[in-house]
Amino acid sequence: MAGGSDAVESTALSCARCGKPAHLQCPKCVELKLRREGAAFCSQECFKASWSSHKSVHLNAKSSLIASESYSEQNLGLPGDGWLYCLREGQAQTPKLPHFDWTGPLRPYPISQKRIVPTHIDQPDWAIDGIPKIEPKSDLQYVVEIKTPDQIERMRETCLIAREVLDAAARIIQPGITTDEIDAVVHEATVAAGGYPSPLNYNFFPKSCCTSVNEVICHGIPDARKLEDGDIVNVDVTVYYKGVHSDLNETFFVGNVDEASKRLVQCTYECLDKAIAAVKPGVRFREIGDIISRHASMSGFSVARSYCGHGIGELFHCAPNIPHYARNKAVGVMKAGQTFTIEPMINSGGWRDRMWPDGWANVTADGKRSAQFEHTLLVTDTGVEVLTARLPSSPKVFPWLSP
Ligand code: MF3
Ligand code: CO
Ligand code: CO
Repeated sequence: MAGGSDAVESTALSCARCGKPAHLQCPKCVELKLRREGAAFCSQECFKASWSSHKSVHLNAKSSLIASESYSEQNLGLPGDGWLYCLREGQAQTPKLPHFDWTGPLRPYPISQKRIVPTHIDQPDWAIDGIPKIEPKSDLQYVVEIKTPDQIERMRETCLIAREVLDAAARIIQPGITTDEIDAVVHEATVAAGGYPSPLNYNFFPKSCCTSVNEVICHGIPDARKLEDGDIVNVDVTVYYKGVHSDLNETFFVGNVDEASKRLVQCTYECLDKAIAAVKPGVRFREIGDIISRHASMSGFSVARSYCGHGIGELFHCAPNIPHYARNKAVGVMKAGQTFTIEPMINSGGWRDRMWPDGWANVTADGKRSAQFEHTLLVTDTGVEVLTARLPSSPKVFPWLSP
């Protein structure tokens, strides 16, 4: 709840929850001098309902303030203090930048210590030792599950939380913030909503979301690098809540971005949009890649091939496998009650990729930029329900969506 205090009077903004005209502002945001957009509400009711995800912006603002005031403060977990570079093997780390034939201008930075999840939160089976146990052995790696009404209802709940978590992250993106600060917001907003951030310790992934900057195609690890004016950054959020996972991502602009990057990001958004529009019972999974590839190549872009859309539910990743490239050999047809992601990664140069020495960040081989968008979908009798759809309160960060 809203820490006992009520929202204060404000002017001419839209409600961060429902989009209606907003006349109230979060008092903590006013105190911290945070951007008014995303901190305004139409009613105390919307303010209180948003509190669990909204309050994370305060934590983040405080940590940036501390970071900018002084680096000399010890034991605050600030860069330099116990921060190391991630390496491939398990949880191996090093104080020195590893040697690598970097494909573009971006470099990894040290990462912060592991974030804690309160013990009352239900954890997936990899949370403790980094190893998923049920997932790789499950029949659901081959058979596409038809969800029960109860599973679908729980999917709707976790997907709504994941959407609100991603929106909270989107609101803090600006030049000067680090991807680790994005991770802190994702982590705090997820646990505040009662969820577990599924990436945390999944096959030893060290953070609570993926942040993929510029030439990173996917699975970038949040680190101490400050976002720069002109960057693009994808934030990929997965939430485990009531025994089921939700998965979505968006690519955001940092300050003023060049026209070519804007075209890449918009084209990627459209690729996902067109793929979703084709989803209905009877459609072959392999058709999705043809649709995405046609739209990407029309704009002179290529489709990344190493990672695919996937089934999702009680398992993070399961059947079906949904490649995003043309003439793929994906098996099966869509049926009502299935839930899966579509998450095209579109490259401004070639499709070839490399893996960073951290064992996670997948980068373009030519060092050119890549963008991605992802939704979790439910096949319905007549078409599709986008479980992670944008809300009236979602920040208006994509110019092509505003009239
Ligand atoms: N969210 C990613 C996906 O879309 C998976 C991230 S797994 C992690 O499938 F371990 F890298 F976090
Ligand atoms: Co996914
Ligand atoms: Co994802």
